[in-house]
Amino acid sequence: MATVHVLDHPMIQHKLTLIRDKDTGPKEFRELIEEVAMFMAYEVTRDLPLEEVEVETPIGPARTHVLAGKKLAVVPILRAGLGMVGGILRLIPAAKVGHIGLYRDPKTLEPVEYFCKLPADIGEREIILVDPMLATGGSAVAGVNSLKARGAQSIKLMCVIAAPEGIKAFCAAHPDIPVYTAAVDKYLNEQAYIVPGLGDAGDRLYGTR
Ligand code: PRP
Ligand code: URA
Repeated sequence: MATVHVLDHPMIQHKLTLIRDKDTGPKEFRELIEEVAMFMAYEVTRDLPLEEVEVETPIGPARTHVLAGKKLAVVPILRAGLGMVGGILRLIPAAKVGHIGLYRDPKTLEPVEYFCKLPADIGEREIILVDPMLATGGSAVAGVNSLKARGAQSIKLMCVIAAPEGIKAFCAAHPDIPVYTAAVDKYLNEQAYIVPGLGDAGDRLYGTR
């Protein structure tokens, strides 16, 4: 069974409240999604391996630590996942970025892949797959399928709001992939929107409808 981490840090929860508010416009919504993604990335990278090095401080030698050279990739599911990338790159500027284009067919709710471009060495990278919404789970499951089919070995899923239905479906399909979310909401409505959720993440980010 996959591990589900609910990131209840007060900074994340405060910003999530502003994100949910229907009166938050696209400019502020975009800024907040980036900020939340940065805080979440801080938690998601908590277990990155370190190695010991020695540096000279002005006082003398110090045995200390640096990241052990593990290579990272951030892979947003388009469109809405794109809104999280800038915040993560502020924390991990050397990460490479791949893109997976998926949309939910409005009738069947099945994910349809229309684009995939990943770093050539994706199989050697620790991947953070990002999408703000885990609703039915179909898009995240398809995103991981796509990554695994291209050789990905190490993946974490980072979303902002998850529905219980999406968590169940995702964990059943990919029990090896840990999930990081800022909230687990109540349920999905008839259109498979998360209740209470935040509405349509892509539309709110880009002002479309
Ligand atoms: C949204 C969201 C997820 C998906 C979640 O994307 O960004 O990718 O829905 O739903 P699921 O868990 O039921 O698959 P959408 O399909 O609306 O595309 P967009 O980001 O291009 O607007
Ligand atoms: N996609 C969204 O953008 N919002 C939801 O609530 C569900 C899927």
